[in-house]
Amino acid sequence: MVKAKKYIVQKQFDGLPKSTDLKIVEEELPPVKDGEFLAEAVYLSVDPYMRALSDTVPIGETFLGTQVAKITQSKNPDYPVGKYVVGPFGWRTHAISTGGPFASGLPKVWIVPDPEGLPLSLFLGILGMPGNTAYFGFLDICKPKPGETVVVSGAAGAVGSIVGQIAKIKGCKVIGIAGSDAKGKWLVNDLKFDHFINYKDPKFTEKLEELTPKGVDCYFDNVGGQISSEVLHRMNKQGRISVCGSISSYNDRDVKAGVVQYDMVFKQLKMEGFVVYEWFDRWFEGIEQNKKWIKEGKLKYSETVTKGFDNTLKAFVDMLQGGNTGKAIVQL
Ligand SMILES: NC(=O)c1ccc[n+]([C@@H]2O[C@H](COP(=O)([O-])OP(=O)(O)OC[C@H]3O[C@@H](n4cnc5c(N)ncnc54)[C@H](OP(=O)(O)O)[C@@H]3O)[C@@H](O)[C@H]2O)c1
Repeated sequence: MVKAKKYIVQKQFDGLPKSTDLKIVEEELPPVKDGEFLAEAVYLSVDPYMRALSDTVPIGETFLGTQVAKITQSKNPDYPVGKYVVGPFGWRTHAISTGGPFASGLPKVWIVPDPEGLPLSLFLGILGMPGNTAYFGFLDICKPKPGETVVVSGAAGAVGSIVGQIAKIKGCKVIGIAGSDAKGKWLVNDLKFDHFINYKDPKFTEKLEELTPKGVDCYFDNVGGQISSEVLHRMNKQGRISVCGSISSYNDRDVKAGVVQYDMVFKQLKMEGFVVYEWFDRWFEGIEQNKKWIKEGKLKYSETVTKGFDNTLKAFVDMLQGGNTGKAIVQL
C-alpha cells in the first residue's frame, strides 16, 4: 500500500495565502488498476495561476498544480515504468492516473521528452508550460519585427525572462520591468536585455519615457494594473499587446480598473488575451525550439528551488511576493 501526502484546502485564500489555509494530510492509495499508473513526484511547480484559480478548488479537495513525476508502477502501456511525466496531479507526493482526460482547460499527462542532459525540473519551466507561454504567447500574438521596441512586465520571472530573450533573438530592443534592482542586473548583465526599470522606483514613468524614445511596438503583459496603463500610454500606432496575466490583482479582487480605451482607440492597438493550452497541439514544437536555443547558448534560465514537500506553500507565497528569479520550483 502506498501512502501519499497531499495539501487539501481548509479555507479559501483571502489576500496573500496563509499557512492555515491549506493542510497536509496522508492518504492510502488503492492498488493500481488496468489502464492506470502510479507516479511519484520529483518536482512540484508553484505558479501564479494557482492563486488566480484557487477559488475553484472546493474545501477538502487537493490543491491544484502540476508536477514532474516518475512512473513507479503501471498497468497502462502508454505510460511505462521508469518514464517521467508532467501531470496536473495537484500538490501531492504520489498520484494514480490514467493519463487523462482531465477537466477542461487542463492538459493530459505528457511524457517528458529526452532532456539531453538538462535538468528534469526545466519541464515545469523553460521546457514546459511557462516556456511555451513565452514562445507562443509572444511570437504568435505580438508578431515582433527586428528593430521594434518590446516591453515585458514580470520580466525576471519564469515567463517574462524567456519572452525578453526570445525578443532579443528576434532582433528587438527589449526593456524589462521587475521589482528589484538585483533582478534588473540579472536581466541586463546575464540575459542581455537592453534596459531594466524597477516598477517600485518613484521615477518609473519618467524612466519608461526616457528608455522608449521611439515608443513601444510590443508589450507582453504579465502583471496588469498601473504598470500596464503606463506602458499603454507609450505604445505606438498599430502596437500589439499580449495579455498573459495580471498578477498585480491576484491577491486583491478589489481591482481598480484603469481606462485603456483611449490608447486602444487612438493608437489602433491590438490587445489579445490567451491561455497557453490553446497551443496544446503544438506543445512539443515550443519545447524543442526552446531546448535548441538553450543548447545554442541563446536562452538562459534560472530557477529558485525550495527543498521539501512540506515547504510548498511557503515557496508559493514567496513566489507571489517576488522571492523568485526565473522559475519557482519545489524539489521533493
Ligand atoms: N496566459 C497563460 O496561459 C499564462 C501561463 C503562465 C503564466 N501566466 C501568467 O504570467 C504571469 C507570470 O507568471 P510566471 O509563472 O512567470 O510567474 P513569475 O513571474 O515567475 O512569478 C511571479 C512574479 O510576479 C511578480 N509580482 C508579484 N506581485 C506583483 C505586483 N503586484 N506587480 C508586479 N509584479 C508582481 C514578482 O516579481 P517582482 O519581483 O518583479 O515583483 C514575482 O516574482 C502571471 O500573471 C501568470 O498568471 C499566464
